Amino acid sequence: MQMKHLPRVKLAMLPTALEEVPRLSRELGVALSVKRDDNTGLALGGNKARKLEYLVGEALELGADALITTGAPQSNHCRMTAAAAAKMGLACHLVLRGKDVPVKQGNLLLDELLGAKVHFLGSGDASLAPARMQALMEELTARGARPYLVPLGGSSPVGAVAYITAIEELLATSASPNFDYIVHASGSAGTQAGLVAGVKYFGLPTRVIGISVSRPAPWLRGAVMELCRETLTHAGAEAQVFDDDIIVYDEYVGKGYGLPTQASTAALELFARREGIILDPVYTAKAAAGLIDLVQSGVIPALSRVLFWHTGGIPALFADVDLHWGEKA
Ligand SMILES: Cc1ncc(COP(=O)(O)O)c(C=O)c1O
Repeated sequence: MQMKHLPRVKLAMLPTALEEVPRLSRELGVALSVKRDDNTGLALGGNKARKLEYLVGEALELGADALITTGAPQSNHCRMTAAAAAKMGLACHLVLRGKDVPVKQGNLLLDELLGAKVHFLGSGDASLAPARMQALMEELTARGARPYLVPLGGSSPVGAVAYITAIEELLATSASPNFDYIVHASGSAGTQAGLVAGVKYFGLPTRVIGISVSRPAPWLRGAVMELCRETLTHAGAEAQVFDDDIIVYDEYVGKGYGLPTQASTAALELFARREGIILDPVYTAKAAAGLIDLVQSGVIPALSRVLFWHTGGIPALFADVDLHWGEKA
């Protein structure tokens, strides 16, 4: 059965590379490869470029001339939405948690560079963001603009479809795509929902393991399951997804979202020093810490074929981040 044709624009440089990492593989005792979605090309890369191809595709089809989205001050999703808007000639409004800061670094610096209009919520409470975005929608519409709301993390069926297509890309670009495991950072559920949908739709034996960077596992599992089913429906793709297809570990979050742990900093150093691969402190270093622990504890058996899906996030390394926070806390 064919997937539905969905509106899409070209934003990312695809396919991304599938890199073998022999030195890390030897050290960990598994056959590890890395899918380099940190190099999707749009404004320093990351997983959101894939989702935005479909989200902006839909926005343009609806005649939008502005994008509105939300996230943390160092949101990669917001930075890439700003870049997508710039590339497509759209205005961009970002509703960011927290307060303005005198010195812009990392993603926040890039948001400004990309010409986005940043609206600070003035509070760290994410539950205030929907009302603020709605007010912005109304304000812009009253001024004659046609804004399109991009959901948090791009994690709607429209965005998550991109990771079904990413599995199709993996099949097309790998001589042996039957990995035993895919391990990746899971935040707002869209990447994992799309990957699981893709694996099930294309009938791969691969187990997708999401390492939570913030949410408790039961919540994230439920969100991934719901979004996975909705995404398959949106794509017109049939596949059965069962509870045990949704694997989430929340043991590697540490003290919270964006706060490095000793294990995440150790993982960041390991990938850099063995393979010259830079991870980010908020997402991929925690996912890598999970991967390393799951291998060392035997949950992922020795000699397994493992794909670490590098989802990007590197600009956050250049924001005021204390990589050794976990040692002091
Ligand atoms: C670098 C990076 N990795 C992983 C994720 C998680 O993706 P998702 O929100 O689709 O779970 C994000 C989300 O912002 C991200 O920026």
